[in-house]
Amino acid sequence: MISQRMRDEINQQINAELYSAYLYLSMATYFEEQGLPGFANWMYMQNEEETFHGMKFFRYLVSRGGRVDLLAIEEPPRSWESPLAVFEQVLQHEQKVTALINGLMTTARELSDYATENELQWFIAEQVEEEEHAEAIVRKLQLLRDAPGGLVMVDSELANRVFTPPTAQE
Ligand code: FEO
Repeated sequence: MISQRMRDEINQQINAELYSAYLYLSMATYFEEQGLPGFANWMYMQNEEETFHGMKFFRYLVSRGGRVDLLAIEEPPRSWESPLAVFEQVLQHEQKVTALINGLMTTARELSDYATENELQWFIAEQVEEEEHAEAIVRKLQLLRDAPGGLVMVDSELANRVFTPPTAQE
């Protein structure tokens, strides 16, 4: 059985992951409006990935005998100044999520909750990728300075992103 404190913190993290899904969905609507379907596709895939993260924590909590409390999800922003501003926010948001995951790890260690520590290792590695991917797109957009020709090129590239849920072994 998981401790009350660890349970509460994982519940908060489920909410943070579902908020992330909501945020990226809002960013998808922005890109649809801008006529950039490839960027929107990247956000739809990111939305699925965040829902997967939320559900991974959800299933883990259930497997440890912890009750899941679904908390209210905050309303995400609806508009941005440019595609670059969107991805700067993605990067900033992922850095915040990394800090939250690190905080969970600190609690798991304090409580000698080795099972949660083991579960969190997957998220620690995942956050390295999340930040790396967001940073790569920020850099690309900084180079283009939102030039329409370049944006169309990046749009076709991002149209290819697919999300495949990791298997139980990964
Ligand atoms: Fe679930 Fe993007 O971190």
